[in-house]
Amino acid sequence: MQTWLGDLLTDIGLMERIDILIGIKELRSEWEHGMINGRCGICGADINERTRHIFSNIVRIYAPCECVNRTMLTKTADRLRVLSECAISKNRAKAGLNPMFENADLETFERRPGTEDMVEAALAFDMTSGLFVMGSYGAGKSHIAAAICNRMLRQEYTCRYANVPETLAKIRATYDGYGSESRILDELITVDLLVLDDMGAEKPTEWVADRLYTVIDARYRHMRPTIYTTNLNLDELAARVGERIVDRVLGSCRIVVCEAKSYRQGVQHLKLRMKAQAAHVPDGIRVGHSHAQ
Ligand SMILES: Nc1ncnc2c1ncn2[C@@H]1O[C@H](COP(=O)(O)OP(=O)(O)OP(=O)(O)O)[C@@H](O)[C@H]1O
Ligand SMILES: [Mg+2]
Ligand SMILES: [Zn+2]
Repeated sequence: MQTWLGDLLTDIGLMERIDILIGIKELRSEWEHGMINGRCGICGADINERTRHIFSNIVRIYAPCECVNRTMLTKTADRLRVLSECAISKNRAKAGLNPMFENADLETFERRPGTEDMVEAALAFDMTSGLFVMGSYGAGKSHIAAAICNRMLRQEYTCRYANVPETLAKIRATYDGYGSESRILDELITVDLLVLDDMGAEKPTEWVADRLYTVIDARYRHMRPTIYTTNLNLDELAARVGERIVDRVLGSCRIVVCEAKSYRQGVQHLKLRMKAQAAHVPDGIRVGHSHAQ
């Protein structure tokens, strides 16, 4: 019994452990006060009692009966669930996912021609190495990266989804007194999973390459996985951000190419066709669902 409770508490932080142990202590002392003539006030079982000398005091220790043991386990499991949900929503709030990708997952991602390798790599992603996804615009790279991020958030990892040009702009803004550069870099370096979305879309300068190198090299050395998405191939990327960065990417990532065409245009065609249909139907008749060909 003790070991079961111990097992439940092994993977949690100190504060969570204290929170749960306080709950268990309250439950036990309530149970002890409810005892009647050496029997459990709930199930009636005989309670074994031991005495122990602690300094000059004699302390009675009661061995919990099965019913209170079960209650302690259930309450602990319930509390752990609540604590885990709190941690997940705290991590999610900090992850920086765009509203468009907040619910992105692999289940709803259409298996379009050209997405096979990317989807397979996303399904196999397990935090033991990074992922580098190349492909044309609109192919679904950012969506897949967000879907992995969402899965890892559910597994209680801390994640950061960073659009590269936006993040660099945020760092630049710190020079005008908005926030702190070292705090931004530190967050990018220490988070369990980092997504660097749209690598190479930023204007290539030495300053940019330095900032990216600081983050990528530190994560590489600490063996923390990073997911990259880009429209560039590795040579083009090396020309923009430098060989040293690409070398670390190659040393830490599975490389996949997504050959799908833009999903955005397919959706746009569908919208335009629905609009055209709507213009031809008499008033009062609603246009139903249409499928792209
Ligand atoms: N296979 C798919 N199933 C469902 N939605 C998709 C799929 N592929 C792309 N999308 C949607 O299409 C839009 C464009 O996809 P996304 O932003 O992931 O493309 P991208 O490859 O990152 O493009 P870019 O290189 O321009 O950044 C998004 O709204 C995304 O949710
Ligand atoms: Mg993208
Ligand atoms: Zn009992």
